[in-house]
Amino acid sequence: MEKIRDTWNANLYDSKHSFVSMYGESLIELLAPQKGEKILDLGCGTGDLAKQLSDYGSEITGVDQSEKMIEQARSKYPTIKFMVQDATKLVFHHEFDAVFSNAALHWIKQPKQALTCIYTGLKQGGRFVAEFGGKDNVKAISDELIHQIEAEGFTFNMEQFPWFFPSIAEYSSLMEQAGFRVTFAQHFDRPTPLDGESAIKNWIKMFGSSMLAGVPESKKAGIIAKVENNLKEVLYRDGRWIGDYKRIRVIGYKE
Ligand code: BEZ
Repeated sequence: MEKIRDTWNANLYDSKHSFVSMYGESLIELLAPQKGEKILDLGCGTGDLAKQLSDYGSEITGVDQSEKMIEQARSKYPTIKFMVQDATKLVFHHEFDAVFSNAALHWIKQPKQALTCIYTGLKQGGRFVAEFGGKDNVKAISDELIHQIEAEGFTFNMEQFPWFFPSIAEYSSLMEQAGFRVTFAQHFDRPTPLDGESAIKNWIKMFGSSMLAGVPESKKAGIIAKVENNLKEVLYRDGRWIGDYKRIRVIGYKE
């Protein structure tokens, strides 16, 4: 996660991938932040949802592993506390009324460590409310990319797969092992419009570059062009690319 997310261009992220925080707005309703609550925004990116949470009168700490994202968040919202932190090594103990996380936990391939840190960071009675990529998220895109990498004669090692997309059964069980009482878990399709004719190319370059790690530079553009061509039938509708996103949402309590 560290390398990929830190190579993201924070400006590009804000201009072309603002849907990430736009979709997070309904997750805020699920969190129902209260005035005066101490809330950790885990994987806060460039801070837009942290700002919305702070508008409820909550006291927000935003953390992200990417220095560039945190730099951008601080310059956009100087009154909010932002820190660079790794979700598997959080330094908080019994501090928060809630931990909120949108579109970040699929980058954490060590979910047990992250859940232990989240649990430790919560006060007794505190809640964890999260949304991220669930089982089979972006499967059409990643399957086609793997297929084209292999068709060109390169080996794809699953360790290069940058994400953790669990089912709700798997993630609820991990939450319970960490000590949470799971009160809500949902898996749903969220077809996501991606901007522009080059959306698939841009998406792969921005999010999926580690999948092409074993491929020489000279071959990458050709592979991505084939992926785009083959996905057109599946993901291009009415003049627009639609990403095959699937989300999970969970709520757990530290009792
Ligand atoms: C997601 O939000 O589901 C996602 C975003 C980028 C890469 C993979 C998944």
